[in-house]
Amino acid sequence: MAEPLIITLDGPAGVGKSTLAKRLAGHLSIAYLDTGAMFRATAWKLGEGSWDWSEDKIREELGSLSFSLSGQGADSVLSLNGSPLTEDIRTEQVGMWASNVARITAVRDFQKKAQREIGMTTSLVAEGRDMGTVIFPDAGCKFFLDAALEERARRRFLQLQEMGREADLDELIKQIGERDAQDRNRPVAPLKPAKDAIMVDTTKLDIDGVFAKLVEKVETAS
Ligand code: DC
Repeated sequence: MAEPLIITLDGPAGVGKSTLAKRLAGHLSIAYLDTGAMFRATAWKLGEGSWDWSEDKIREELGSLSFSLSGQGADSVLSLNGSPLTEDIRTEQVGMWASNVARITAVRDFQKKAQREIGMTTSLVAEGRDMGTVIFPDAGCKFFLDAALEERARRRFLQLQEMGREADLDELIKQIGERDAQDRNRPVAPLKPAKDAIMVDTTKLDIDGVFAKLVEKVETAS
């Protein structure tokens, strides 16, 4: 059997990773892995304040969690203990909880194992913060997306509005800025581009333009 194809998309919150990763996965007829959702679901399951527990307690709790992935492109379904993840994990507050638990070595070890297990049998477009640097360093094609903070907050604002949720742009700029700083500055697996990642600034580019650029790079790499 051929080795699964792995494409990685890393970058900060609100940079357009999910939209692009889903679309790219659909174009290539492979699965889309949203590792941010895995951290969000973990934080949601462990609960508020779990980041202050002892590593032993956290490891024990993580022992009862199991992720699985099915489907392709936008129809990819990520499940935790057999149940598909829900929209409850999509608030900025749960995003911050996810960023808090993501600093803990026990959580990162657990996620690394779960994500690599999925990638061993399934071709993926995997999006997150450390896909190209830590989880899939041998990926066939790596991208690092970035955009100005204000533009990323504006996109998240529109996304939340579309979902019918309350959103305050200034508050989002503050929250996303704080979360980014925490993700970039943590000692384990910080948000940073892999040395061999293709850098894409999405501040001014429209989504179709960025998508076309990613497809062209993937096709040249394979
Ligand atoms: O992509 P997102 O906004 O859903 O991610 C939520 C948080 O999860 C993010 O702020 C940091 C953490 N995360 C991580 O540390 N590593 C990943 N590969 C993905 C997400």
